[in-house]
This record gives sequence, structure tokens and C-alpha cells, in this order.
Amino acid sequence: MESSVIKANSVSKVVSTKHEQLTILSDVSLEVEQGESVAIVGTSGAGKSTLMSLLAGLDTSTSGEIMLLGKSLNALDDEQRASLRSESIGFVFQSFLLIPSLTALENVTLPCLLKGEAEDNEKATQLLEAVGLGHRIDHLPTQLSGGEQQRVALARAFMTNPKILFADEPTGNLDQKTAAKVIELLFDLNKKHGTTLVLITHDHALAARCDRVCQMNAGKVESFQ
Ligand SMILES: Nc1ncnc2c1ncn2[C@@H]1O[C@H](COP(=O)(O)OP(=O)(O)O)[C@@H](O)[C@H]1O
Ligand SMILES: [Mg+2]
Repeated sequence: MESSVIKANSVSKVVSTKHEQLTILSDVSLEVEQGESVAIVGTSGAGKSTLMSLLAGLDTSTSGEIMLLGKSLNALDDEQRASLRSESIGFVFQSFLLIPSLTALENVTLPCLLKGEAEDNEKATQLLEAVGLGHRIDHLPTQLSGGEQQRVALARAFMTNPKILFADEPTGNLDQKTAAKVIELLFDLNKKHGTTLVLITHDHALAARCDRVCQMNAGKVESFQ
């Protein structure tokens, strides 16, 4: 049995700008095991978000191969990658990315609809209760604070029992105290659901809570231990 859920082999990403070909990721190889938590750290512009997009199948690499949950991403078309994501991957982003016209409950049930399943209001309510928002389920994102919105996003991310959760600086837009709460919830939910976690963060103390830390610099993995 293959136990690695993510395996990147010599992955590069080159983008064309007006004047040049820009290499934003170069020769990145890494492996993440089932159930592991991995922090990706590095200065702004190091290529963390780009790497995450590739590992999660949101974008495609220029060269190299990525195996995600046993599937070679190069071999999948956009639609197949989208369905792999909606089946098995959860996301949390710095900017929450809730749908403004939907209530907290509707935002949390949305992944079911995208997966082609009926919305499970009971489960969504339980998840919102688990993040301390049981009394706010009918509120719109604009009626919620940043921390509350990110807790809704967390509940949404776990709605489909993802095998892997990708979190890109999930506390980047929150004050320290609120961030700490959101992080506790993230690790809690993660543990309860047995999810593999890939967490991009600037915060070295937070990174140290993960099983392993991948240090990136200028589009390369500098160390991974
Ligand atoms: N589509 C793109 N076109 C041109 N440059 C890009 C593109 N996407 C990312 N970059 C550049 O690649 C580098 C890495 O970006 P990113 O992965 O967002 O870094 P990080 O998340 O570590 O801050 C940055 O210099 C960024 O400006
Ligand atoms: Mg980034």
C-alpha cells in the first residue's frame, strides 16, 4: 500500500510575462504521508502558494510529476482535477472566500452541491456548532467578523470529509488573538477527522506544531524535515 498522499517529483512552474519566461518554482520534490501535517514556510514570493496550487490540482506544472491521492495530475484534464478536488480536498484561504449572498449554513453546504450530493444541513449545523457558530448559521458573511468568517470557511472545508486540507495563510487576515482561536479549531478538526494537513504560514511557532516543516526560498525547497 502506498501511504504517501502527495508526491511531487522535480516539479517546475514557468510563467510567461510580457518580457520574459519567469521560473517561479524550480525542481521541487517532496512527499507527504497520509495523516501527516506539513507546514510550508518561506518569505513572501518564495513560491508557497504556487506550490500549493500545483499540489492541490488547482493549476498545472510546467514540468515534473505530481501524484495526488494515487493519481497523476498530468494525466487528468481540468474537469477530472475539479472532481478529484471536490471529492477529496478541502481548502482554507487567507481571504476566507465565502460566497457573499449565501448564509453561513449555505456556504458550508455548498461543497455537497458542487459534489453533486444533496445538502446535508444537519452535518453543516454540527460543523458550525463545532466552530462555535451554532447561533450564527443564518447570518451572511458581511454580518460576521473576520474570525467568524474564517470559522465558517473551516466548517466548509471539512464538510466533505476531505482526505487533505490545504490552508494558505489561514490566519493572515486576523488579529493575533482571533488567529490563535482559528488555529486551535483547525488543528482540532484536523485531528478529529484524521485529515492530512498542508499549512502555509509565516508563523514559525505555528509551523513547529506540524509534524514536518518545508522551508522554501526563491522557488525551491531549501529543506524539508
Ligand atoms: N501568474 C503569475 N505570473 C507572474 N508571476 C507570478 C504568477 N504567479 C506567481 N508569480 C510570482 O511568483 C512568485 C511566487 O509567488 P507565490 O507562490 O504567490 O509566493 P508566496 O505564496 O510564497 O508568497 C512571486 O514572485 C510572484 O510574484
Ligand atoms: Mg502566498
